[in-house]
Amino acid sequence: MCGIIGYIGEEDAVPIIIEGLKKLEYRGYDSAGIAVYTENGFDVLKQKGRLSGLEEKLSGGFPQSHQGIGHTRWATHGEPSDINSHPHLGTDSKIAIVHNGIIENYKQLKEYLESKGVVFASQTDSEVIAQLAEYYYEGDIMDTVCKVSSRLEGSYALGIMCSDDPNTLIAVKKDNPLIIGISEHGNLIASDVPALLKHTNKVYYLDDNEIAVLKSDSINFFDFDMDEVDKTLETITWSMDSAEKGGYPHFMLKEIMEQPKVLRDTINSMMTDTENNRILEEIDIRKFDKIIITACGSAYNAGVVSKYVFEELCRFPLIEVELASEFRYKNSVINDKTLVILVSQSGETADTIAAMREAKSKGAVTLSIVNVIGSTIAKESDYTIFTAAGPEIAVATTKAFSAQLVLLYFLAVRFSKKLGRLDEALYEKLEQEIVSLPDKATEVLEHIDFIQKYASNSVAYKSVFFIGRNIDYAIALEGSLKLKEISYIHSEAYAGGELKHGTIALIDGENTLVVGIACCKRLFPKTLSNIEQVLSRGANVLFVSNIEQVTTDEKTSKITIPDIYDLFSPSLSVIALQLFSYYVAANRGCDIDKPRNLAKSVTVE
Ligand code: G6P
Repeated sequence: MCGIIGYIGEEDAVPIIIEGLKKLEYRGYDSAGIAVYTENGFDVLKQKGRLSGLEEKLSGGFPQSHQGIGHTRWATHGEPSDINSHPHLGTDSKIAIVHNGIIENYKQLKEYLESKGVVFASQTDSEVIAQLAEYYYEGDIMDTVCKVSSRLEGSYALGIMCSDDPNTLIAVKKDNPLIIGISEHGNLIASDVPALLKHTNKVYYLDDNEIAVLKSDSINFFDFDMDEVDKTLETITWSMDSAEKGGYPHFMLKEIMEQPKVLRDTINSMMTDTENNRILEEIDIRKFDKIIITACGSAYNAGVVSKYVFEELCRFPLIEVELASEFRYKNSVINDKTLVILVSQSGETADTIAAMREAKSKGAVTLSIVNVIGSTIAKESDYTIFTAAGPEIAVATTKAFSAQLVLLYFLAVRFSKKLGRLDEALYEKLEQEIVSLPDKATEVLEHIDFIQKYASNSVAYKSVFFIGRNIDYAIALEGSLKLKEISYIHSEAYAGGELKHGTIALIDGENTLVVGIACCKRLFPKTLSNIEQVLSRGANVLFVSNIEQVTTDEKTSKITIPDIYDLFSPSLSVIALQLFSYYVAANRGCDIDKPRNLAKSVTVE
């Protein structure tokens, strides 16, 4: 979590840093801060709360500078407060740092420095980096950076400035993302691509244990032994507009509405002559006897959906889906006959990275589905295929989730074919069903007015339950997660058949809404019975279904989605659920793009 940015060049660093932080705020928004270098040393401004608070403070006056660093924080060590905000300076204000990550041995380092008389200002783990740097500093900042890096345990992406060396900005990376951008007016560092897009699409991806030394007109890379490293300049294909709201009130709504295009682009990425297709061709599924899909959050829910699809289409004996945070510590039985599929929008989720490394250390083959090129998971897994979702800014994922689902469907269909489970005709039909998704997604979006109205009458529920069976249960998990994370209404997802084993006790008449998802045709009568059970206990019901029989009355409403092959229906039902959550949250006045306590890229455990 946390976003860092730095600039050195011809222009005023302050607006560049603030604009960049706006694009990184999804990574954490407990506080924000900026430090610039001027002839009097460092000027620092920090503010608890959203970036807008810092902007307000800045409007009171702040010096211009050609060099600076900025930070937006998701608090781990030390409460959100002005003092715990970054940048942090050493006691002599010689070295200023911004940090994304966690320093695991900060207590030992702090005790050591305190025993030498260093006085700390904050409760953060990060301050120890600035203090340690000043403690070691003897006039050579590069030497200092190498010494400090050798003492730090944990993860860090760092931006560092030294007041003795005003024309240099230093970046260091270990286990957290850091990108170096090269523009016509200067050079930049940032935690993620959207922060750079306004200035450049030419970037270097810093690797672990590498240092970048930026001057306004040059960049050099080193390892921790100070040996120079050659790196390749990459070109980002994302456009600047893709990281703007484009007239929508929230990124989340924009990203929901973009889904037909994202689905189309992701589907195109699986057609012949594409890199994704070539990579998938390389994997011989017949060599494996077990598939484990592992991920966090919504990406995990995509995995749960795909387990149903894999099972049905591939008839593969062993398919598991695991939360990455559990998998990493579980001592799973895996070996070189296990294919571990990692799903991650950011490619930087700490638990998913750890799961990947655990799987690799046990000899498993890893295949990742990732949205961010150059991310850790993309680089380290044996095979990577990319979703074509473009930058996703809202903390609650929508379009990236949909793109993940589509690639997982393709995986299941292609593997099934390789395993000899599909004849050519069925294979063609299934692929055509996937290809029909973008147009059908557009049809779901046409329900927006009804959903908005329905949601505006749903703001007062104490609890919302999402139920379904089979694939509908799998997508109920995502519907429930979306609602709770952005609207703060208590919600849970249940397999329809489980209701009677406890959950039905929670149905509290009209105070409860049950969202019934019924797209799995063969199980429709069963889901319907479950719905009857909650209706007879007074709950209100919203049906999401592609089945015509559902009748509506004053207690039951319905969103009809287009018919599609059952197993792919989650891609359509989820859009209705996303819109519902969005409008409930909007009507409750929630901060939709930045829900409380959350961050998009969870780079800590
Ligand atoms: C956070 C985000 C979720 C996301 C999850 C996993 O919790 O808010 O939207 O699904 O992290 O992130 P990843 O980048 O690995 O897909």
